[in-house]
Amino acid sequence: MSREVPLAPQHLPVLGHAARLLTAATWDAMEVWLREHGPTLRFKISGATYIVSADPEVVRHVLLGNADNYAKDIRSMAPFLDLLGDGLLTSDGPLWRRQRATLARAFRIDSLRNLADVTRRAVDRSSESLTEHAQRGAVVDVGTLFRRLTLQVIAEAALSMTPEESDDVLPRLYEPLVAEANRRVWLPARAHLPIPARFQYDRSLRELNLYLRARIDARWRQRQAEPGRPALDMLDMLLVSVEHELWTEDTATLVSDELKTMLFAGHETTSAMLTWTLHALMRHPECLARLRDAADEIFVGAGMPEYEALKRLDYAGACLKEALRIYNVVPIVNRKTLADDHFADYHVPAGCFVMLHLQALHRDPQQWPEPEAFRPERFLGESQAQAWRWLPFLNGPRSCVGQHFALLEAKIVLSLLTQRFDFTPGPGNSDARHRFNVPVGPAGKIGVRVHRRV
Ligand code: HEM
Repeated sequence: MSREVPLAPQHLPVLGHAARLLTAATWDAMEVWLREHGPTLRFKISGATYIVSADPEVVRHVLLGNADNYAKDIRSMAPFLDLLGDGLLTSDGPLWRRQRATLARAFRIDSLRNLADVTRRAVDRSSESLTEHAQRGAVVDVGTLFRRLTLQVIAEAALSMTPEESDDVLPRLYEPLVAEANRRVWLPARAHLPIPARFQYDRSLRELNLYLRARIDARWRQRQAEPGRPALDMLDMLLVSVEHELWTEDTATLVSDELKTMLFAGHETTSAMLTWTLHALMRHPECLARLRDAADEIFVGAGMPEYEALKRLDYAGACLKEALRIYNVVPIVNRKTLADDHFADYHVPAGCFVMLHLQALHRDPQQWPEPEAFRPERFLGESQAQAWRWLPFLNGPRSCVGQHFALLEAKIVLSLLTQRFDFTPGPGNSDARHRFNVPVGPAGKIGVRVHRRV
């Protein structure tokens, strides 16, 4: 006989758990509940019931065992739908299956080989700007540096944009869109208020849509004129997948949604991961030195090493994974049950919102001794068996399609930058995380002073 999931503490009449969840970052408040009262709890807001769990068995059940019964909770992504449309991140059912098959091709090894060169070009460009900062002794904002760099990489991989085109167009359009979407998570009414941020948002969205649409139409015409042209970027792959269909408004919108999804999902998360990793490395010079030694061995001279050699950047990979475990750029994922279900002896009714608390799982002392300590060694050699206790990219059919892309890109970025520069933390850097924005970046800026090494 299954039981009802236990109610979380701090429940108030009328308000439910809302008061508690608004006094701190929501994911941090839930983490405390789960740590103190058990791995699976129930809470209420505005009459709706939510289940939150950091139990690896529950996570496995929802993401793999009975994954078909757990749909994406689109409502929780509402403020981001303009940026994602019906792309791979938000779709479900047959549309999702088809999109996933098309895009999975863009992330296969042969495409990732190309990514290494794209990343190097972006690092070369950032290095020029860092060298200028070094000469002036200026503090560099690491968040801005990595946001621009990761945008350049995904813009070239997705659309063959040059770094100059990317710098001219994308930060200007994306920065106001992402900032406003994050504010609307907490104050949805902003979408209807006559405030300057709303008009700026509408203008940027219109311009982004027009820009992408013009590039898509031009590429479609080019492919029509040169049948059999090889697919060189994600846009080509998307167009190949629809070339036997009629070119309609709906087809063009779907291709555009897919590109917007890639541009958005492909830069903010990777940039937050890089920011936290560099921050942690500045606090652990012994780890930074080890990462640099490996970089010096593999990146020799101006050429790019063979793809196989890049696999030896496993210490850089371990640093990135450990930063994802500690700082949790995606702390929670949301699902909704389609039919009644059971897990961990609990009854789960249809229509229930289920939150998988990745952050609590990643910081559970039973899974990770001394969870606060930055120890990349946890991710080396035998200790790599992390399957259901380390899930920053999830696991199962809806796992992140870009995870190898993100890790390869970030390993190259960190290795080349630490090889070329010394880093000293700027004033006021702290571990404090942003309370609202997802992906979760630092609450303030992470600043760095750089000195050119080679
Ligand atoms: C550190 C970097 C990244 C992290 C931590 C991350 C994390 C995640 C997570 C947690 C999900 C599942 C979301 C959910 O189901 O609710 C996801 C899905 C996804 N990610 Fe990533 N991601 C990263 C980088 C990337 C990159 C570089 C790309 C593209 C180039 C990308 C594209 C996607 C897409 C398209 C999905 C949806 C997959 C599907 O539902 O089939 N991500 N990511």
